[in-house]
Amino acid sequence: MASDTSKGQQMWGGRFAAQPSDIMESINASIDVDRRMVREDIAGSRAHADMLAEQGIISEADNEAIQGGLDQIVTEVQNETFPYRAELEDIHMNVEARLKELIGEPAGRLHTARSRNDQVVTDFRLWTRGALTEARRGLQRLQRALVIAAETHTDAVMPGFTHLQTAQPVTLGHHLLAYVEMLERDRSRMDDCARRLNESPLGSAALAGTGFPIDREATAEALGFYRPMANSLDAVSARDFALEALSALSISATHLSRLAEEIVLWTSAQFAFASLSDAWSTGSSIMPQKRNPDAAELIRAKASLITGQFSSLQGAVKALPLAYAKDLQDDKALTFAAFDTFGLCAEAMTGMIETISFHRENMRAAATKGFSTATDLADFLVRELKMPFREAHHVTGSLVALAEQKSIDLPDLSLAEMQGVEPRLTNDVFSVLTVEASAMSRQSYGGTSPVRVAEQVEQWKQRLGLEQST
Ligand code: ARG
Repeated sequence: MASDTSKGQQMWGGRFAAQPSDIMESINASIDVDRRMVREDIAGSRAHADMLAEQGIISEADNEAIQGGLDQIVTEVQNETFPYRAELEDIHMNVEARLKELIGEPAGRLHTARSRNDQVVTDFRLWTRGALTEARRGLQRLQRALVIAAETHTDAVMPGFTHLQTAQPVTLGHHLLAYVEMLERDRSRMDDCARRLNESPLGSAALAGTGFPIDREATAEALGFYRPMANSLDAVSARDFALEALSALSISATHLSRLAEEIVLWTSAQFAFASLSDAWSTGSSIMPQKRNPDAAELIRAKASLITGQFSSLQGAVKALPLAYAKDLQDDKALTFAAFDTFGLCAEAMTGMIETISFHRENMRAAATKGFSTATDLADFLVRELKMPFREAHHVTGSLVALAEQKSIDLPDLSLAEMQGVEPRLTNDVFSVLTVEASAMSRQSYGGTSPVRVAEQVEQWKQRLGLEQST
């Protein structure tokens, strides 16, 4: 059937005598991007048409024709036979034009009391709501992988760093659970965002509302929104929901990037704390020995792409007067790309964590270096000799200097050498100088002791629906 919306007769073409230029069509068309919202667009149209019929604005017969035509469009979308056409600009006009081809005149009544301005942002809110759910699920899968690894390595001792200088021994389980906590806050940010965005712009029409007796509560409810947005100008122009979603993704991607950086360090020959499985390593075309952590490196890079997408969208929105402006069309490419990238990063990280092997002996050996139990020695002086902590810190510093001068570790000093610095020291001091004793002793709530870590692992297993340990 010949389309009456081919070039020169755009849906909005009534007042135009000449066709748009080809370049105009190219810069204006968004169908290659917004076709991803075809399902949301159809859902919005269904709800709108039902409401129009309920309110007596269109006839029941027209609504039935519209719903039947939309059914057929859903089938075409599923079968990948739906004809997406650039000359029809965007998904909204593509669906409506196809509906016209399929059902004729009633299709022309669907756009009563609606504009593409409220339509597009209704679709976009629905899409973002779904995408946030997916992103949260992806993070939860990663949390599960981290908790399982933390359970296996509850008591594995490794060096804890500040400034990437050895600080105190920590347990690997504790270290991995730190990321589980971060990801939980990320999930909660996404959840907040999904709740806040869940209001319906539909029925705001172009910007000022409509003179037709529409029922915005009904369309909001049909689409799973909590309520209609209260201000039509705000509804068609606000994109803070997308900014908020991208900022939540950006923060979470930053966390993934930090973990990625640790994987890069840990899998280096110098650290040798861990090895990635073959599935998550790549080789070098020239150096046969190489096992490169490419996925981790790419996660590191992609985190900044997502941050860039947030900042691009913010740049597009920040100087726009109310209400709608076409600048807002580019919100979707940025948002879709950020969600795609984020989903890929979360999955890749999950795959790496599920199959990484940790070299506990190397971690332990590294933990014994760098005078990592110096704080335990100072704490011992406070506890056993009732020394003020500042003085104990000073005495310990002298012992560290002595060991350093002899190129040995703290526990390798003899009692006589120690007594040269602090005569009241006894053999008991050696019991606090092992890395295991150090980690074990830190039993304060939130501390690194395996006792506390095991409790946290249990809590997380319950919260994440993991089975009891097998
Ligand atoms: N494709 C457009 C977008 O994504 C739909 C809204 C068009 N509205 C308009 N007044 N031209 O923003």
